[in-house]
Amino acid sequence: MIEPMTIDHFDDVMALWEKSENIGLSSADERKKIEAYLARNPAMSFVAKENGVIVGAALCGHDGRRGYIHHLAVAASHRKKGMGRELAARCIESLRSAGIEKCHLFVFQRNKDGKAFWEKIGWTSRDDIQVVSKDL
Ligand SMILES: CC(C)(COP(=O)(O)OP(=O)(O)OC[C@H]1O[C@@H](n2cnc3c(N)ncnc32)[C@H](O)[C@@H]1OP(=O)(O)O)[C@@H](O)C(=O)NCCC(=O)NCCS
Repeated sequence: MIEPMTIDHFDDVMALWEKSENIGLSSADERKKIEAYLARNPAMSFVAKENGVIVGAALCGHDGRRGYIHHLAVAASHRKKGMGRELAARCIESLRSAGIEKCHLFVFQRNKDGKAFWEKIGWTSRDDIQVVSKDL
């Protein structure tokens, strides 16, 4: 069952992310920051539950122009059953409803499985762009 993520899910979602390879966690993922993100992007991030236990999660939001999905993860025990695809679809649906026409996401270069997943579900990896960042 997929439902919108709320801040009450935070501890379980964080436990899932911490167990998931290639999810890059930082100070931006502290409880207060995630609470603010969910408030700024209501009903766009989702959790997947089985028997009441969180086994998948994805953060999603937009800046008014483009959408972004972060930290999509499915518990190792529940992979290859369509849960990742469904979480991504729910995120995309919420962005479309908000009038957003394109979504981007970040995948570590080393994350071959992650790239294969996104390409399998219809996303395009780009080699014409490099991420450029600055600590503020
Ligand atoms: C990537 C991840 C979210 C995929 O979740 P999942 O629930 O197993 O994915 P799905 O079952 O919905 O798979 C959708 C499609 O992608 C394919 N796929 C999934 N993982 C794959 C992999 N490692 N290699 C190749 N294809 C893969 C599936 O076979 C399926 O294709 P099909 O419909 O033709 O059978 C999960 O492996 C994960 O949590 N990985 C660790 C965290 C991570 O890397 N997240 C991405 C961050 S950008």
